[in-house]
Amino acid sequence: MSSSLIEQAKQKAAYQAVDEHVLPSHRVIGVGSGSTVVHVINRLLQRDPELNAKTVFVPTSFQSRGILLDGGLKVGDVEQYPNVDVTIDGADEVDSQLNAIKGGGGAHLQEKVVAEAANKFVIVADYRKDSKLLGEQWTKGVPIEVVPFAWRAVQKKLQDMGSKDAELRMAVAKAGPVVTDNGNFLIDAPFGLIREPAQLLKDLKLITGVVEVGLFCNMAEIAYFGCEDGSVRIR
Ligand code: 5RP
Repeated sequence: MSSSLIEQAKQKAAYQAVDEHVLPSHRVIGVGSGSTVVHVINRLLQRDPELNAKTVFVPTSFQSRGILLDGGLKVGDVEQYPNVDVTIDGADEVDSQLNAIKGGGGAHLQEKVVAEAANKFVIVADYRKDSKLLGEQWTKGVPIEVVPFAWRAVQKKLQDMGSKDAELRMAVAKAGPVVTDNGNFLIDAPFGLIREPAQLLKDLKLITGVVEVGLFCNMAEIAYFGCEDGSVRIR
């Protein structure tokens, strides 16, 4: 499928999710990170040019904060707005129970906080992210944010847990480790097919030095997948 058709699939999913879940009464909207979320922001602006007067947006990364500010929208954080009406975000993979892998862009710590602060968490993605089990299509591994000085110790624990290929995420051209918006490092830990994501999440969170894990279990209420034929599959 061409990249323009994939972009169109992302756009369709994002537009429909905004139209069905962002209500005129909403005052605080959580905005995830990544390329699909750009369409979420575009739709919000397109639908209601007066949005800025009455709504605050809580971004989940430097990236989404920048796009919201460039669009002239009012930006806040969960410290000011701990009750978010709805959060819409992308995902790297979603299973049949709506568990998700997130953090391909390294923003899953803030994404999880803003999703948990919301009354409703909605996922938008293209059809490539729709799987029966996590690990089916997203084979790079579960993104794990770690405090920098602990990365080797955490990597060893992950290898002991069966993720032999757990790797520190490096910047382009191996210029050094990727550093998150929170000043931490990332390890991508493949676990093959993930049949019990909630148990894996619990086990990973017990490793000292782990800040947050890119497994979002039992959080999403609904997911929109833009399809190859221009339709949107809702789960
Ligand atoms: C960033 C994320 C993104 O939502 C995820 O990587 C999907 O991104 P895209 O919409 O570009 O495919 O979790 O941490």
